Amino acid sequence: MLGTGTVGASWVAYFLSRGLAVSAWDPAEGAEERVRTRIAAAWPALERLGLEANADPGAWQFHHDPADAVLDSTFVQENAPERLWLKRELYGRIAAALPATAIVASSSSGIMPSDLQAGQPFADRLVVGHPFNPPHLIPLVEVVGGRDTAAVTVDAAVDFYRRIGKRPIRLGKEVPGHLVNRLQAALWREAVDAVARGIASVADVDAAIAHGPGLRWALMGPHLTFALAGGSGGMRHFMEHLAPAVTSWWTDLREPQLSDELKAQIIAGIDAEAGGRTPDELAAKRDEGLVALLELLARWRDAPERP
Ligand SMILES: NC(=O)c1ccc[n+]([C@@H]2O[C@H](COP(=O)([O-])OP(=O)(O)OC[C@H]3O[C@@H](n4cnc5c(N)ncnc54)[C@H](O)[C@@H]3O)[C@@H](O)[C@H]2O)c1
Repeated sequence: MLGTGTVGASWVAYFLSRGLAVSAWDPAEGAEERVRTRIAAAWPALERLGLEANADPGAWQFHHDPADAVLDSTFVQENAPERLWLKRELYGRIAAALPATAIVASSSSGIMPSDLQAGQPFADRLVVGHPFNPPHLIPLVEVVGGRDTAAVTVDAAVDFYRRIGKRPIRLGKEVPGHLVNRLQAALWREAVDAVARGIASVADVDAAIAHGPGLRWALMGPHLTFALAGGSGGMRHFMEHLAPAVTSWWTDLREPQLSDELKAQIIAGIDAEAGGRTPDELAAKRDEGLVALLELLARWRDAPERP
């Protein structure tokens, strides 16, 4: 595990819960202690969701050199800060120590794998394996290879994430922001514009998703959700009946200027919505809800469908 900040420490806890042994490295002072604290904080939720029989929260080691951390690895999850030059510099430090068959998966939120891997001796074994915050709870991981990634590497990464209980999706093409952050960016663009145009307050825009379509999106995605809007005629009827209206609204969507004034308006709106709760308190509350939701979804998916 290279880089143990927000995402890396959460990954460490998850890998341990799946019975894997983890070697971690992070250059920050106090990083080892922070990883310990994050594992302890995540463990009760991981226990509730079901540990592997051999899961051991102590099965990790902290190293002071990234090369030592990758020496005996089979799968390296890289979570360094989202800056291309920095990730590439780090790859240079591990290249000689990396076992010949180990895969390097970058958690990068949006850098294209071709840019990450260019010129690296292990380019054929590098993929983006992009998780969602917090990775110890959110099942999705998007996997995408670059120009030099071997197809078997993408297969092996998808297989690895599936075996440890994640829900990998495999992208057919690399694009900045991969897939999911582009979907999020498209929605957030409209959420920002709704505030800029005075359509609704920050809290009401959030409520519009969390109390509405967000509930359905935890069950099925936007295409299938719209297919059901077509009633018993399904997607075919939706395409004839409602798609023309939806596509006519596309022409009114626009790119807002995220000016200093608009940023301040959104920040003030979030302060009002948070009502004095800190980001850490809100994240803890969100994680508690996520665990309950994951348990519910597991039961819901396993339940037989009614005719
Ligand atoms: N935060 C999110 O919601 C999120 C979600 C998915 C993916 N990601 C991706 O995960 C990666 C890490 O993001 P984060 O949010 O955990 O960042 P973060 O700032 O919380 O953590 C980054 C960690 O990297 C360490 N670091 C500093 N220099 C380093 C170096 N040269 N090499 C390795 N590590 C170094 C820092 O000490 C820190 O602990 C990024 O690529 C980001 O795009 C983030």
